[in-house]
Amino acid sequence: MHSPISRRMLAIGGALCALSFGIAACGSDDNNNSSTSGGGASTSGSTSSKAQKVGVLLPDTKSSVRWESFDRPLLEAAFKAAGVPVTIDNAQGDKSTQQQQAEQQITNGAKVLLLVNLDSGSGAAIEANAQTRGVKVIDYDRLTLKGSAAYYVSFDNVKVGELQGQGLVDCLGSSGTPSIAELNGSPTDNNATLFKQGYDSVLKPLYDSGKAKKVADQSVPDWDNQQALTIFEQMLQKTNNKIDGVLAANDGLGNSVISALKARKLKQIPVTGQDATPQGIQNILSGDQCMTVYKAVKKEADAASKLAIALSKGTQPPAGLVNGKTNDTARDVPSVLLTPEAITKDNVKVVFDDGFLKKEDVCTGKFASLCTDAGL
Ligand code: BGC
Repeated sequence: MHSPISRRMLAIGGALCALSFGIAACGSDDNNNSSTSGGGASTSGSTSSKAQKVGVLLPDTKSSVRWESFDRPLLEAAFKAAGVPVTIDNAQGDKSTQQQQAEQQITNGAKVLLLVNLDSGSGAAIEANAQTRGVKVIDYDRLTLKGSAAYYVSFDNVKVGELQGQGLVDCLGSSGTPSIAELNGSPTDNNATLFKQGYDSVLKPLYDSGKAKKVADQSVPDWDNQQALTIFEQMLQKTNNKIDGVLAANDGLGNSVISALKARKLKQIPVTGQDATPQGIQNILSGDQCMTVYKAVKKEADAASKLAIALSKGTQPPAGLVNGKTNDTARDVPSVLLTPEAITKDNVKVVFDDGFLKKEDVCTGKFASLCTDAGL
């Protein structure tokens, strides 16, 4: 994984690239170009057996660090290992930018697109356009409702929510009737709907039976951490600081909650998260966050790259890879759904042993001794 410094350089590089070359030239990583490398397509005897260009459309840099810190390098590595040229663009949260990037990737010869949509409407438009140009699309991580993607690759997102709900309940323990606040993801992200379905399946019975009290429940537009901070401050204001636990839908939102609590000098309370980001893990080590959900992005990237290669060659994906169907409200989309894992202080080692995080990105400064205490 990139160190924080190289990640920052990557982000700066991306920004400079966008400024100086325009969208099309940005984030591209054309490797093993068959027209220039000796013994490429012309000597292989069959051009149809050669995987063609792939375009990846990432959503933003603000809703989670995962897209640039994990998905980009892991997708790059997966396609590089397979010798497939790939261009990766990030729409920086702008729907029309994403549509232009898709258009540009197709013009530049991409035959398969991996799309993380910014909402289903704009995603479906990208997919409809791709279809008219003979280009296949894979919904990467986020399902496009009423879209036309050939495949959907993600995690069991209802399960992600269940792990968050159960994690919060476990951290709260059994004493008293806790007041719970829910800080949901973006209302336009189908995943946020699924996460909520998962955690509400755990929490609602407790509210209904009077074992817990829901004191606030709000969605955060675009998963924007800054807005999350304002929303949570208002929740504290409204409840007179009487919040005992927070279901925050990802680590970024969780960190906004933690910042607001610290600003008011309130004591630590159980806060959930998702993505196992370096900051989320640090918050777990310091006791500010009670759990996160680890989604092995490497597996997600590998699965998506295998499907993209099969689609571009017109072959069947490896047997057993596609393991389900997901209804996009209009049709069933063949899916690869991976299994998420709950992470607390007790099993934080998992994300390091898996090669997802590096100790030097987490165990810095005051976290060094906390890492040692946690057996890292
Ligand atoms: C992803 C999460 C991510 C969130 C914000 C969701 O669709 O599944 O991993 O934290 O978007 O980017």
